[in-house]
Amino acid sequence: ETIDCTGLHVLPGLIDSHVHLREPGDAAVETIATGTKAAVLGGLTTVFDMPNTNPSITTREKLDWKRDFVAGRAWCDIGFYVGAAKSNIAELAALEAEPNVCGVKVFAGSSTGDLLVEDDASLEAVMRSGRRRISYHSEDEYRLQARKPAYTTGMPHRMHAEWRDVECAFLGTRRLMALARKTGRPAHILHVSTAEELSYLKDFRDVCTVEVLLNHLTQTDEAYDRLGGYAVMNPPIRDARHMAAAWAAVADGTVDTVGSDHAPHSRAAKERPWPDCGAGLTGVQTLVPLMLDHVNAGRLSLPRLVDLLNAGPARVYGLVGKGRMAAGYDADFTVVDMKKTRTIEESWIASPCGWTPFAGQSCTGWPVMTIIRGQAVMREDAVLGEPLGTPARFAP
Ligand code: DOR
Ligand code: ZN
Ligand code: ZN
Repeated sequence: ETIDCTGLHVLPGLIDSHVHLREPGDAAVETIATGTKAAVLGGLTTVFDMPNTNPSITTREKLDWKRDFVAGRAWCDIGFYVGAAKSNIAELAALEAEPNVCGVKVFAGSSTGDLLVEDDASLEAVMRSGRRRISYHSEDEYRLQARKPAYTTGMPHRMHAEWRDVECAFLGTRRLMALARKTGRPAHILHVSTAEELSYLKDFRDVCTVEVLLNHLTQTDEAYDRLGGYAVMNPPIRDARHMAAAWAAVADGTVDTVGSDHAPHSRAAKERPWPDCGAGLTGVQTLVPLMLDHVNAGRLSLPRLVDLLNAGPARVYGLVGKGRMAAGYDADFTVVDMKKTRTIEESWIASPCGWTPFAGQSCTGWPVMTIIRGQAVMREDAVLGEPLGTPARFAP
């Protein structure tokens, strides 16, 4: 087949290194089939799936189940996070050496189910458990809220966001960086969202890499007034000062990867009043269009986008055969039309939960074709063929 790409840009297959596809556990909002369909519709060729499912992915048995389950269901390639829990510290080294594991995810401040490693001794044991880069959830929101219960009642979201800036995220990140230095274990700090953390982490480049989220580059706290619970995520969307710091960190090289933190919740959950609305926003399908729009708006270059959504994830996680185009790499491509202007509509969203915090937003720059190992799997909004996604491979 000849594919005419006149007037288009052909990029190495783009990767969302931070998604929650909810399977097993919550098929009413997302599954591996629907979440990876959303991914290819949005121009992604690989996603890395988080372990906080129900049950969570903490054992070899559950990991094997997930790896076998994706065959014939996944529309794109998929890497698996393993969750650190107090019960599996002794197994973590063996689990992270599994070829399809992108890394161990640590929730040290907030979590779902059994994935909480919050005390210093357990966290240090996790850091000493293996040698690949650990993925760290940078937020201590719930732990600190528990310390200040009065804080959670009746305050507008704006103030929540500002209070968290000064006390929360930063505490956990500082503790982890101290442990990283002490143990020699490097960490990928996920969803860094404050100016203070970003400037602090510049001094820890020897032991850390940095993820920021599309949402923190795209939305500020005015979104709470417009979207209510549909703007609530963890870590929270913050004010313009923090967004400016995130863009400065993209420009100066502090940021290694940009993820969506795609975290579907039902409409019913999102419409509950604060603080009972689930924390998390959909994003896997809108990551590439919004980042391309940022390119057109002059906030980053197209090569830098490829860095953050392809070469960066490949380097940070040790992804094999996908980063940048080179001999011997999979023929994964994202073909984009930088001139196409289109509005994000909820009718386009493939996730069963059916909503996006970006509905009505116009993007200039749009993925028009997704190619995996030479097969076009998406072309002009149509998903093509059969689900041919396979488990992604990582260097041990
Ligand atoms: O907003 C979030 N949602 N942050 C997380 O860390 C978890 C995620 C989820 O699973 O809903
Ligand atoms: Zn997280
Ligand atoms: Zn997440």
